Amino acid sequence: MALLEIENLHLAMRSFEGEAHVLNGIDLALEQGEIWGLVGETGCGKSLTGLSISRLVASPPARYTAGAIRFAGQDLLRADEAAMQRLRGRRIGMIFQDPTTNLNPVFRIGEQMIDVALHAAGTDPSILGLQADASRSARRKAARALAIHMLDRVGIARASERIDDYPHQFSGGMRQRVLIAMALIGRPDLLIADEPTTALDVSVQAQILRLLHDLVLADGLTVLMITHNLGVVAQLCTHVAVMYAGNIVESGTTRAVFKRPAHPYTRALIAAVPTARSVRGRLQGLAGSVPSLIDAPPGCRFASRCAAAQADCTAGTPPAREIGPGHRVACLHLAEAAP
Ligand SMILES: Nc1ncnc2c1ncn2[C@@H]1O[C@H](COP(=O)(O)OP(=O)(O)O)[C@@H](O)[C@H]1O
Ligand SMILES: [Mg+2]
Repeated sequence: MALLEIENLHLAMRSFEGEAHVLNGIDLALEQGEIWGLVGETGCGKSLTGLSISRLVASPPARYTAGAIRFAGQDLLRADEAAMQRLRGRRIGMIFQDPTTNLNPVFRIGEQMIDVALHAAGTDPSILGLQADASRSARRKAARALAIHMLDRVGIARASERIDDYPHQFSGGMRQRVLIAMALIGRPDLLIADEPTTALDVSVQAQILRLLHDLVLADGLTVLMITHNLGVVAQLCTHVAVMYAGNIVESGTTRAVFKRPAHPYTRALIAAVPTARSVRGRLQGLAGSVPSLIDAPPGCRFASRCAAAQADCTAGTPPAREIGPGHRVACLHLAEAAP
């Protein structure tokens, strides 16, 4: 059984203009220890997919109209808020986009980390290495020691002193390290990281990604890494799912998808990555933009931008077909799309 299984997930979002079908039948299965990259242009529904797993999408305006999300066999769409709170920060760790919105500026780093550790220990006291009946002060002391240990693991020098700093005393890269430490403090099985380095300088991004990768491997974590950066996927991920306008159009091992990209959208994405050669030569941009998801036309949502589109592409959503071991593509005209 996969650790995380998303099956035919449909999410509609009510807005002023109407109801947008922002997730249009997502299928995704993450086996224990796999590191998945979820890629696609802005607005494709990557964040909403990640937030759906943690059940952090406000509903209303969101409405799950079909499908299921199963984590370790538990049906998350039917789990109540108390059950979700037990999972978040404990079995499911999360790192989101912008460091400034994640650490509370008015509390010391240590207080925020201790809170998360105590919350996780509420479900599993062994996280603090204590028995369930340990005193409040013993728990606090152990949580502080664990927080220092985690800061040290993510490369914060003099962690036992820096733990009492406020977030503004840390650089952007250090704050992101703290967020990684907080996401991992409850010893999660699954880590969801949504554009974890986008807000950082390029040189710092590389360090943070390397750190994240080392920690993930050391702990044998299963990861859903949301990114619009194909380079990140190529370096860090074992598997990749390419998302377009609420659908996963192609998925498989990173090696298979990069070696033999089959969906016209995947090919366009890969072609749009500037390489040393293409920067000097012609940069192949990706023409057009993601269509409106309100009253989206039936059929393949990429059809309006696809050079290989034919009349039947707009008839119905193309089913995903397996074209290699675990390599799935949702396109009716793969042969025509071949270069
Ligand atoms: N709270 C919301 N209300 C209405 N529409 C939303 C909301 N959040 C996201 N959307 C829409 O859902 C689509 C997918 O958003 P998102 O998951 O954030 O995309 P991505 O992370 O791939 O950039 C976008 O078209 C976005 O405008
Ligand atoms: Mg996003």
